[in-house]
Amino acid sequence: MKDDKIALVSGGNRGLGLETCRQLLEHGFRVLLGSRDLDAGIEAANAFGSEHVAAVRLDVTDSDDIAALAQHIEKIHGRLDVLINNAGILIDADLGDPASIRDTDAEVLETTFRTNVVGPILLINAMLPLMERVDDARIVNISSGMGQLSGMGGQYPGYRISKTALNAATCIYAAELDPARFSINAASPGWVRTDMGGEAAELSVEEGVDTVVWLATAPEARVTGGFYRSRERIDW
Ligand SMILES: NC(=O)c1ccc[n+]([C@@H]2O[C@H](COP(=O)([O-])OP(=O)(O)OC[C@H]3O[C@@H](n4cnc5c(N)ncnc54)[C@H](OP(=O)(O)O)[C@@H]3O)[C@@H](O)[C@H]2O)c1
Repeated sequence: MKDDKIALVSGGNRGLGLETCRQLLEHGFRVLLGSRDLDAGIEAANAFGSEHVAAVRLDVTDSDDIAALAQHIEKIHGRLDVLINNAGILIDADLGDPASIRDTDAEVLETTFRTNVVGPILLINAMLPLMERVDDARIVNISSGMGQLSGMGGQYPGYRISKTALNAATCIYAAELDPARFSINAASPGWVRTDMGGEAAELSVEEGVDTVVWLATAPEARVTGGFYRSRERIDW
């Protein structure tokens, strides 16, 4: 049990997070499926019919949840090999179409930032002591092309700025963590058919998480400090 590789996925109960859990199970990981609604997480985990997946309560905006989860992983597994910062929200559209930066308000910006940026940073910091115990620790931050500074467009300012900031956090961690032991990268899944992406999106969830799971598992993806889409490095 102590030798099994352990992966934690935030927002694992649906969408890209759920598919990431499925593929990590296929890669032989013990998967901790994070869900802010524990019942939804248990239902999602049970549907796999595998004893190698367990639901854990995780609201990334709740510091108590994060601390309790770190203690739980310490007690049960004593290590963490892979952390997928997948949980995210896009609420700019609640202001109405076209969600212009001229119409945004403090609540949209702050709520988005708390979930998409502060949450992942606090989660990484809580998990680092557990990840320092493994030789090949991998962190993947699920970003978005909408946060790509080099191709920034209009609309959805809260979401865009939050993903740009998550990319910046990725770079800062990469600069501070030992690259011989830690890989931390950002991944853009593309436009994917989920509740967030909508039915018109071009990619399936299987396609959307391909680069995420590759960064988390592949020997050749033992790289750090990059932004990736379709297994290729892209501009920030
Ligand atoms: N779909 C796309 O086209 C696309 C494109 C680029 C990037 N992304 C990114 O990919 C990630 C997953 O997106 P998705 O399309 O799968 O979205 P989704 O279908 O809306 O699922 C979002 C997931 O995040 C969880 N979540 C939201 N706030 C949370 C919080 N405070 N604590 C813990 N979990 C929380 C949700 O939990 P609940 O079920 O409890 O709400 C849900 O599990 C996001 O970071 C998103 O920005 C998506």
